[in-house]
Amino acid sequence: MTPSDLALDGAEAITLVTLLLGGLLIVGYALRTGVPPMPTGPGTRAAMLRLLPERIDGTIYDLGSGWGGLAFAAARRYPGNPVVGIELSPLPWLFSRVMLAVFRYPNLSFRRADLMAVPLNDAGAAVCYLMPAIMQRLAPKLDAEARPGTVVVSYSFAFDRWVPDAALMEADAGPLLIYRYTVGRRPVTPAPGASSPAGT
Ligand SMILES: C[S@@+](CC[C@H](N)C(=O)[O-])C[C@H]1O[C@@H](n2cnc3c(N)ncnc32)[C@H](O)[C@@H]1O
Repeated sequence: MTPSDLALDGAEAITLVTLLLGGLLIVGYALRTGVPPMPTGPGTRAAMLRLLPERIDGTIYDLGSGWGGLAFAAARRYPGNPVVGIELSPLPWLFSRVMLAVFRYPNLSFRRADLMAVPLNDAGAAVCYLMPAIMQRLAPKLDAEARPGTVVVSYSFAFDRWVPDAALMEADAGPLLIYRYTVGRRPVTPAPGASSPAGT
């Protein structure tokens, strides 16, 4: 083997650099958001969608839509509702937009945005697979913006101070729970260390 056998030709070098830059971009955004673009599997998606009501009034959001798989599944299940995937990481977002250009779903759209900056007042439901830190920032946003009755289904991570109205573990979802909450309808547990009402 000679040194020239090991040298990359132009096309190989471009492919390698593209893959490297793509990987760095994905890792960089995962560090920025604190959430990697790990997709839910088909079984988990189906279980999450089963926790949503039969009929939903309003937009269905996938908060952190990653590569788009869960949002596509929601758009198929609810053809009469607008489904919006919100994703900050450029490559997963671009991938989902390309998939949407190929498999056209008239009720589905993807927005490249920070989910914390997107108003949720038109939401009828939201699904998410995030991480504990952003879940705790999302809870007060949903309380402030989402209409009472909006259903939120989260895979794997719970809202610390909200009590879910349902939780299930599916074989396909692995050893992790799926939680369902209803905005305005669920009891809220006191914050740790909060003082109880006078005299109690
Ligand atoms: C674990 S993936 C889930 C993808 C998809 N929902 C699914 O279940 O297949 C979570 C996604 O949330 C995105 N994300 C995290 N924080 C975000 C934020 N503040 N705004 C928009 N997207 C965010 C991440 O970039 C990541 O792609």
